[in-house]
This record gives sequence, C-alpha cells and structure tokens, in this order.
Amino acid sequence: MTRFVLDSHLPDDHLAKALAADVRAGLGGTPKTLPPKWFYDERGSKLFDQITELAEYYPTRTERELLRTHSGDVAAACPADTLVELGSGSSEKTRLLLDALDKAGTLRRYVPVDVSPGALIPASEALLTTYPRLEIHGLIADFEKHLDHLPDAERRIVAFLGGTIGNLTPAQRAEFLAGIRGGMGPNDMFLLGTGLVIDPAVLVPAYDDAAGVTAEFNKNVLRVINRDLDADFDLDAYEHVAVWDAGPEWIEMRLRSQRDQRVRIGGLDLDISVAAGEQIRTEISAKFRKAGITAELAAAGFELVAWWQDPDARFALSLSRPA
Ligand code: AVJ
Repeated sequence: MTRFVLDSHLPDDHLAKALAADVRAGLGGTPKTLPPKWFYDERGSKLFDQITELAEYYPTRTERELLRTHSGDVAAACPADTLVELGSGSSEKTRLLLDALDKAGTLRRYVPVDVSPGALIPASEALLTTYPRLEIHGLIADFEKHLDHLPDAERRIVAFLGGTIGNLTPAQRAEFLAGIRGGMGPNDMFLLGTGLVIDPAVLVPAYDDAAGVTAEFNKNVLRVINRDLDADFDLDAYEHVAVWDAGPEWIEMRLRSQRDQRVRIGGLDLDISVAAGEQIRTEISAKFRKAGITAELAAAGFELVAWWQDPDARFALSLSRPA
C-alpha cells in the first residue's frame, strides 16, 4: 500500500524533552503557566472529544455547519490538489473539505500534520478507505515549527480549524501566520477557523460546563505531568477556573490550588510550592473580530478572499491568499 506515507520531523525523544522544558519554564517561576498542548494525551483527547458534544460547547458544531455549507465555495475559490491540515487530530471535519475537493475533481492528496501519531494514523487509515484514490502524506511535526517540510503540490489549501489559533498569544500568532505564509506558493490558500468575540454569558459556560468535563480536561494536564515527569500533584486539591478577560479578549483556563502544597517533580528533580489560592494558567483561548484577524492576516502577507460566519456570529471561517 503506497498511498500512505508518514514522515516524522520530530526526534523520538522530542515530546519528552519538550514537556520537561515547558514544565520547568512554566512552573519554575511566577505566575505559573503550562502550555495547552499537554492536555492531549489519549485520555485528554477523549475528554476533548466529549467537550465537543456538550450543549455548552458551541465552536465545534458551529464550525462543522459552516464547513457543511461552504466547503463547495472553498473548493470553487481554490480548486486544490492537496489539502494540508495543521493539527489534524481525528480529521473529523476534514471529510467535508475532502468531499468538496473530490467533487470538484481536483483532489489528489491529503497532508495531515500533527504531533501525535496516535491520532493521525487511525484517522488516515479510515480516510484511505473512504477515498480510494486519495494519497495521504502524514507529517508528525509541531505545526508551530516545521512548516517548511510541506510536500510540493500544484495548488494547496492549508487549513487550520477549530479555533486553535486562539491558543496562541498575539506575538505567537504573528510568527505562526508568517511561517505559514512563508511556506505557501502564489496559488495556495489558507483556511482558518476562529471563534468570535461573543456575549460572555454564552462564552464562559463553553469553558466551564455543568457536567464538569472541561474541569477534568483541565486537570488532565496535571495527570500527564504526574505520569510522564514522576510528579505528585494532588488533583483533588485543584479547582477548575474559566474567566473571560475583556482586555486581550480571551478565555483563560486556570487551576486554582485550594491549599498550600509542596509538589515534587521527580523527573525534573524540582520541588515547587503552590500557595493556597494560587492559580496555574493552563490555556488562553482568544476570540476574534473580523477587523482584527483581517489585520493580523494582512500583517503576515495575506489578503482575505472570503469570510463566512454563522447567523449568531459565534464562529468564522476565513479564506485568504498571499497578497
Ligand atoms: C481545541 C483549542 C480549539 O480553545 O476551545 C476546549 C480547547 N479548551 N475547552 C478551545 C478547549 C477548553 C479548544 N481548542
């Protein structure tokens, strides 16, 4: 079976080393922070899938509906032979785009890019069955860094869905968008999913659901550190916090310690103290306005081709091309 090629641009010990460095940097100082990418071990990925089905968590279903309605428009604007998807995960919404490109008759290849082979391989196998002529060239890579390894193509759509760009700070976004732009040819286009700024009364519950799934997802990062870095965080001593920060217009997820504690992180030979009430910031999830994201895209060398949003203006898909 030669329709599936998998390349890794990460050394085998990359994830272990990156986790160690991130935890040392994030928990060693104040305020304490942890990057959101460490939520997603097998358990965390399952919890995220559960989040996407919650009544309160509107982004996934809203974006799926936008893709259902507008994938044909995307394929018409950019009849690409290659779909590149950054942070492909389970490739669940990808099928809507693949179907549209298949219908347009241009589709040849799908390039999922993800740090986790555990999600990428089974997702690819399922797609090979559904699309009997599709070639898949998977890349195990950190999409923040390895965009220069994209395979050549006549015409590519580079997709970054889910609103995950919101996990980056403005400075990280500028660097990330410039990196994507740098890897794109004149005929390629960039499809971006972004959560929009909405009423906090709707937004906050999406990150603090009644059933407590998001709280479990948030605490999962401590479970990952306990397991992979031989630490002894007491998960029960932490409380899930989600707050809307109207300044930078992002949701912050935090873990608040309910008591003073010492934590041993054996794998780093590090002891830290966490004070009662102290909070570890585990995620930012920025929301956007059309003018703001258009300006960020322009600063990276893109011009907007199309903008689609749902009737409640909660989520948007933008299609851009090199300016
Ligand atoms: C996968 C980054 C898009 O920010 O909405 C869900 C992750 N965090 N609930 C988001 C998440 C809390 C999600 N992204």
